Amino acid sequence: MEFRLALIGFGVVGRGFTEILVRKQEYLQRKYGLKVKYVGICDIKYGSVVSHEGLDPAKALETVKSGGTLEKHLNGVKGLNALEFIELSNADVVVEATWTNLEVGEPGLTHIKKALNAGKHVITTNKGPIALAFKELDSLAKSKGVKLLFSGTVMSGTPSIRTLIRGLAGCYVSEVAGILNGTTNYILTKMEEGLSFNEALRDAQLRGYAEADPTMDVDAWDPAAKIVILANIAFGSDIKPKDVIREGIRNVTLDNIKDALRRGKRVKLVARAWIDDGGIRAKVTPEEVDVNSFFGQVGGTVNAVMYRTDSLGDVYLIGRGAGGEEAGQAVLADLIELTL
Ligand code: HSE
Repeated sequence: MEFRLALIGFGVVGRGFTEILVRKQEYLQRKYGLKVKYVGICDIKYGSVVSHEGLDPAKALETVKSGGTLEKHLNGVKGLNALEFIELSNADVVVEATWTNLEVGEPGLTHIKKALNAGKHVITTNKGPIALAFKELDSLAKSKGVKLLFSGTVMSGTPSIRTLIRGLAGCYVSEVAGILNGTTNYILTKMEEGLSFNEALRDAQLRGYAEADPTMDVDAWDPAAKIVILANIAFGSDIKPKDVIREGIRNVTLDNIKDALRRGKRVKLVARAWIDDGGIRAKVTPEEVDVNSFFGQVGGTVNAVMYRTDSLGDVYLIGRGAGGEEAGQAVLADLIELTL
């Protein structure tokens, strides 16, 4: 199957995905019969180019790597804003990989609505629109007969969402719990080694794990959005990030961490959502967990999730949850899902 793909956002995620596609082109065609034609790339920094005949993704990567802009080095219609870009493109799939905004979901939310309304499938890694407006976007996609896929919004390429939707199909899930933020888990792990909070945060930023605004990680907005996304899928609910009881890791001291370790415990930022008499509850708070427990063994930037189910008991998934290659893999898996 051949897709005409338009990519909005050529940052870490957009480029990570493009690198995988370029690298695995032959393999994807051989194994899945998947062919992808880039018919547009749009980025706030590198400009936008639309070409119905197709763009060379390897050239786009090369251009940006060598400090150039897409508008200068690729041929096609240039200078469009993201909405004009969607309108003019002949894509059947739009990949939305712009930055996350958890207050209003923009600009991703408008991009996604525009693309769905135009009858295009949407694949996004953008947590804001999915955490804030999943129900609305899902209905819109269904009414237009297209798919909205968003695997990369939680745990990147580690398939937390697909496991929940597909793997656990038919199970009754009563609780979801996870270490869903790599930056804070990395900071807590480094603090165990004696680094101060600020040193560990700087390290996470240098390695590219942290959000552009690290308060999203440190004050737990990012894992709050992720637990909302998982909860709404698991429970069919419509909770929002503001409904999540939220406490980040700013108040966790080196003394707290050392004291916990002396008692065989580790401090972890755990996100939980569960069904309660009064409805759905969700929280993200630092918790002490046993060093030898599943969550106690999750160190560094690694993420993990547990689904409590009726038929299978507790189901666990662990893996990398951040990075360009990891998020790129999530987009690729979604693209392959469109062929099934
Ligand atoms: N800042 C996020 C994290 C990136 O640290 O987990 C992935 O969503």
